[in-house]
Amino acid sequence: MEALGMSRLIVISNRVSRPTKNGNQGGLAVALSQALRESRGIWVGWSGEITENFTGQIGFSEDEGVKTATIDLEEQDVDEYYNGYANKTLWPLFHFRIDLAEYARDFEGGYNRVNQRFADTTSPLIEPEDIIWVQDYHMIPLGRMLRDRGHDNRMGFFLHIPWPPTRLLVSLPHHSKLVQALFAYDVVGFHTEEWLESFRHYVEREMGGSVDGDFVTLGKRTIQAIACPIGINAQEYASAAVSDAAKDMYEKVRRSLQDRAMIVGVDRLDYSKGLEERFNGYARFLKDHSEQHRNVVLTQIAPPSRGEVESYQQIRATLDALAGRINGEYSDVDWTPIRYVNQGYPRDKLAGIYRAAKIGLVTPLRDGMNLVAKEYVAAQNPDDPGVLILSRFAGAAQQLKDALLINPYSPEEMSDAITRALSMPLDERKRRWRAMMDSVEKQDISWWRQRFTERLMAVQRNGEVKQEA
Ligand code: F6P
Repeated sequence: MEALGMSRLIVISNRVSRPTKNGNQGGLAVALSQALRESRGIWVGWSGEITENFTGQIGFSEDEGVKTATIDLEEQDVDEYYNGYANKTLWPLFHFRIDLAEYARDFEGGYNRVNQRFADTTSPLIEPEDIIWVQDYHMIPLGRMLRDRGHDNRMGFFLHIPWPPTRLLVSLPHHSKLVQALFAYDVVGFHTEEWLESFRHYVEREMGGSVDGDFVTLGKRTIQAIACPIGINAQEYASAAVSDAAKDMYEKVRRSLQDRAMIVGVDRLDYSKGLEERFNGYARFLKDHSEQHRNVVLTQIAPPSRGEVESYQQIRATLDALAGRINGEYSDVDWTPIRYVNQGYPRDKLAGIYRAAKIGLVTPLRDGMNLVAKEYVAAQNPDDPGVLILSRFAGAAQQLKDALLINPYSPEEMSDAITRALSMPLDERKRRWRAMMDSVEKQDISWWRQRFTERLMAVQRNGEVKQEA
C-alpha cells in the first residue's frame, strides 16, 4: 500500500460500506476499501441493526478482501446518538442552521455512550503499528476515548461536513469539550480552507491556542490541521457514464424529453441541499421566461433520508407541496416542468441521467464538499458537455471555479444562470468543462486518501512530526 508501508489501516465510521456485487459503491467506500484491502485493515461501524440489549458482540465479515467489524446498537442509542446528537444537534449547527439545532442532555449523553461503545469495540482490534482513521461528526470523541485506553497509534480524523464559524459554534453547550477532543488526533482534515480557517479561529479565540502553518497547538498538544478536499474516482465515473446501463438510461431519458433540455438535481432529501430554494429559483425562471415553457424540464432526484428527524419530515412535506404547486401552475397536458423523484439510482444509471442533462443544478445552502457536482462533470460527453450551476456555498466551489457560481438564496441569480446555461455556446461549454474535469481528475479520491494518509504516516508515535509533508 503506497503510503501506509507495513501498517494496517483501521477505519471507523458510523456506517460501514461493504463492496457490492455490481460494484456500485460510493467513492469514499471505494477509496477506503482499496486501502483496507491492501493493508489488510478493518472497517469498524454500526451494523444499522437494533438490538434489545447492547452486548458489545462484534459481527465480523469479509467481502472481496475488505474486513468489517460491526456492532448493533440499542434503540435508545440510535435515538440519542444518530437521530439526536449527530443529526438534530451537530448536523444543523455545522450547516449554519442554529434555528434547527436541538440541544438536549440526553443527546449528548447518548453520543458519548455510543462513542464509548465504539472505543470498547475497536480497542481489542488495534495493534501497535496500526493507523487509525476516524470519519466524520458522529465520532469526534472517539480518538480521545481510544487514547484513554492506552493506544498511542497514529490517529487521524476527517470531517466530511462544514466547520461552523466560531460565533455559531459557541451556541453548542460544552462546545470546547468537543473541540478539545480533536486534539487527541494527530492529523485533523477538513474539505476546504474555509472550514479549516473557522476551526483555527475557534482554537485561537475561544481556547487560547496557537496556529503555526498546519500546526495547531493547545496546551501541550500540537496537531496538524489541514484542508484536503475529497474527490471522486473520476476515471471510473467517466467509464460508468458510457456503460451499457448508463446508455440505456440515457436513451430512456432522452426519449421521454422529446428534445426538451433537462436540468438535473440529485441530492439526499436534506434541508442543507437548498432544494426549496432550487424549486423557487426554477419557478422564477419559468415566471420570467414564458418563451422557455415546454422547452425545459427539471428532474429532481431526492431519495428521502433521516426520516425519523422532524426537520426532515418538514422539508419533505414542503417540497411535496412546492413541486405540486409549481407543476399545477405551469404544467400543460403534454408538459410537466418538474419531475420530482423520491428514489435513488445505482451509479451507472445515475451517470446516464447526468449525461442526458444540459444543466447540473447543485445549490446547497452549505455543504462540506458536494460530490454530485464532481460526478456531473465526470459523466459529461467531452464533445457536447453540459453546464454546471453550482452554489458558492458548496465546498466544491473552491475547486470548480469554471462552474456558473451562484448564490442559492437568490431566485433571480438562479434564473439568470439557467438562462445563460441554456444558450451557452459549445466552445465556452467545452472550455469550462475541460478546466473542471482537469481538477476532478487530478484531485480525485485516491489523491485525497494518499494526501491524508501520508500526513498521518509522517507523524512519529510520540505525536511529533517526522518530516514536513
Ligand atoms: O456527508 C455526511 C454524511 O453524514 C456521511 O457521513 C454519510 O454517509 C452521509 O452524509 C449520509 O448520511 P446518513 O448516513 O445519515 O444517511
